Amino acid sequence: MSRSAHPAGPRHADVLPEGHYSAPPADLNALDPKVWSETVTRTDDGVLTVGGIDVKRLAEEFGTPAYFLDEDDFRARARAWRTAFGNDADVFYAGKAFLSRAVVRWLHEEGLNLDVCSGGELATALSAGMPAERIAFHGNNKSVGEIRRAVEAGVGRIVLDSFQEIVRVAHIAQELGTRQRVQIRITVGVEAHTHEFIATAHEDQKFGIPLAGGQAAEAVRRALKLDGLELIGIHSHIGSQIFDMSGFEVAAHRVVGLLKDIRDEHGVELPEIDLGGGLGIAYTSDDDPREPHEIAKALTEIVTRECESARLSTPRISVEPGRAVVGPTAFTLYEVGTVKQLDGLRTYVSVDGGMSDNIRTALYDAQYSVSLVSRSSDAEPMLCRVVGKHCESGDIVVKDAFLPGDLAPGDLIAVPATGAYCRSMASNYNHVLRPPVVAVRGGEARVIVRRETEEDLLRLDVG
Ligand code: LLP
Repeated sequence: MSRSAHPAGPRHADVLPEGHYSAPPADLNALDPKVWSETVTRTDDGVLTVGGIDVKRLAEEFGTPAYFLDEDDFRARARAWRTAFGNDADVFYAGKAFLSRAVVRWLHEEGLNLDVCSGGELATALSAGMPAERIAFHGNNKSVGEIRRAVEAGVGRIVLDSFQEIVRVAHIAQELGTRQRVQIRITVGVEAHTHEFIATAHEDQKFGIPLAGGQAAEAVRRALKLDGLELIGIHSHIGSQIFDMSGFEVAAHRVVGLLKDIRDEHGVELPEIDLGGGLGIAYTSDDDPREPHEIAKALTEIVTRECESARLSTPRISVEPGRAVVGPTAFTLYEVGTVKQLDGLRTYVSVDGGMSDNIRTALYDAQYSVSLVSRSSDAEPMLCRVVGKHCESGDIVVKDAFLPGDLAPGDLIAVPATGAYCRSMASNYNHVLRPPVVAVRGGEARVIVRRETEEDLLRLDVG
């Protein structure tokens, strides 16, 4: 992203601060459909609406900060993934992006499966009626208790992540008198083009078993020998917020290469491969994500081609999108508390949430967009930094944003594309209460995760 020269007119610091921004948008009131969910629009007097309800009403009824999730948009995206991959593939929604019982029911209704990575996510999935056989259980250090619970529940697959876990799951399954369907997660040695903390296919990291040096082949050897396991496939997840398909191509090529080696060594053709999640979404107008049907076409073609050249029958493919399903479906609504102009430096807009409801900016230097949503404004654009209310200067929500120069306390502003990894990574830092998630659809809004209360906080404090 580029940094432009100071455009004439805007009210902001005389010296342009360092940052990621281009020129202010031509119209600050315009809503880029790339970053806002499907039903978002503005009324004639400039108030943003979602699912037919305006944000002033939503703020009055549910308070701020709050996440508003566009249910129609969520369902449409889930369906688009399902349809794109068709009946010869499976789509596992990655629950870590955002999980609640309502979401589990929507996924079930829309024909998606679910990837969980902890006992808590498994409990949520089961309690909302997701059939166990449609659940995949992930994680690099599942506890014995978690594994036992997953096997007992009858989850469709456990994705094995280490040599110890191969033995652990086999023992538990045998003890419970069953054979557990498993995949082995491998690292294919791809450097995904994304933030270091969310890249997961290079070898020097905690996930998976490296293909390099024959470790993955050895894991397969061991798994095939154990009675408690039914090895159904190989899994690869290369990272998250990725736009470039070439990493997936290399991953598919290497996974199929391993399937071929397995066939040659053991005479077994494993029936499934999982290529993980990781597809990027638009956080700002500069991002250009791929559509599910393009992704499905590209992945299916690569796998089919690679299998043909290895003379293998094409395995059933599965994918695990999280962010690409839920990310664009929600925005966070905040109320502006203060606008502080530091002459010659920067303007800080403080809102009533912050790093406790969106840690992504602090953690990954993530870029977001933001708009004034309780009214329209013709004021000149003001370059500013949107910050939270926490006792920490890294508490930044949007690092560099253009908002109208007449922004004032009491205005509502919204940050789009906060459906993924915001509520699910929310914290109680400074004993700030985690915001609710409100689903909006067809003129109705309902809380699907309620706002935390001081009683909730104090209930855990038993000293
Ligand atoms: N499958 C596996 C095995 C994963 O580890 C993940 C994400 C996914 C699927 C879903 O990836 P997605 O489609 O959502 O990119 N907190 C970070 C992202 C961490 C992703 C962890 N694993 C963030 O906020 O960007």
